[in-house]
Amino acid sequence: MQMGAAFTAPLLVVLGLLGAATANVGDSCSTAADCGAGQLCFDCSPELAGANCVRSVATNPFQIINNSLPFNKYAFLTTHNSFAIVREPSHTGVPRITFDNQEDTITDQLNNGVRALMLDTYDFKGDVWLCHSTGGMCYDFSAFEPALDTFKEIEAFLSANPSEIVTLILEDYVHAPNGLTNVFKASGLLKYWFPVSKMPHNGKDWPLVSDMVASNQRLLVFTSIRSKQASEGIAYQWNFMVENNYGDDGMDAGKCSNRAESAPLNDNTKSLVLMNYFPSVPVKITSCLQHSKSLTDMVNTCYSAAGNRWANFLAVDYYKRSDGGGAFQATDLLNGRLLCGCQDVKACSQGSGLMCSS
Ligand SMILES: *[C@@H]1O[C@H](CO)[C@@H](O)[C@H](O)[C@H]1NC(C)=O
Repeated sequence: MQMGAAFTAPLLVVLGLLGAATANVGDSCSTAADCGAGQLCFDCSPELAGANCVRSVATNPFQIINNSLPFNKYAFLTTHNSFAIVREPSHTGVPRITFDNQEDTITDQLNNGVRALMLDTYDFKGDVWLCHSTGGMCYDFSAFEPALDTFKEIEAFLSANPSEIVTLILEDYVHAPNGLTNVFKASGLLKYWFPVSKMPHNGKDWPLVSDMVASNQRLLVFTSIRSKQASEGIAYQWNFMVENNYGDDGMDAGKCSNRAESAPLNDNTKSLVLMNYFPSVPVKITSCLQHSKSLTDMVNTCYSAAGNRWANFLAVDYYKRSDGGGAFQATDLLNGRLLCGCQDVKACSQGSGLMCSS
């Protein structure tokens, strides 16, 4: 890399003079304008000095392949604590004292190709709020925003993107009867509701994405409270999904095992697999290093642990931070494996096995 720098610098100047906007992931840059579409100029210092073009947008597998396969044959980039956004202003009048996990709005996350959101829902101020808290209680200093505001952003996205499916995974502390249902109603999201009765048991495939789109049932919601499946028709997450450990326990190289609430990862009576990959305490500055080789290594580790099943959901903090392809490339790997046995979903569309070397 360093030895080549003397040769690549003049080359970049020549390309620039020719007006060739052909920047690739990994090229050095000083602003995003130096990079290609769907890329950012990002500095993964101090470990990797200098700014490089990195990916910032996911590949859409429905467009690259088609959407006529079962929902569980695709992988979706997922943001952990999607609502815990750095510059979200205080909505309680009290300065917030808690961690953040993401840097752009829910709308931007969705527009960049994030398709599953992990949200922590709490009873608060007679309503439902998204909070980062402890002990199942939300406080003025730990509250991000009313769930209604976020749900309205999701509604606007689904309305503007009639072929897309969004999954919500709720760490749910709402105990008010019909508390969540009321917010889903008020936000306009109920019209996209995918009913629990259509969710498969015993390891069967999910409905085809094309059928979910045709019936406009494009919102999947999972709660961590078991009883809500019967009382409110909100799917209990671990009836349908296995999930590995989260936090530091989920980042131990070479190890991938289920979190306590989930069946063992190789229990293939649950048709969906969720992989967490984020530390217990989110650290912005080092997240770009985690979204690199160690992430793809863990994708492979969890594949084996899940009984040779590729994850459908890949959940990360600061999803755009990386030293190159990051969580976007790891999702392309998952979709490549799921859809055509290739290492990258973009190779599937070539219609040949040539690029699918393992
Ligand atoms: C969609 O893609 C899959 C995987 O490549 C293929 O098997 C299937 O025939 C395609 N369906 C349509 C309708 O094109």
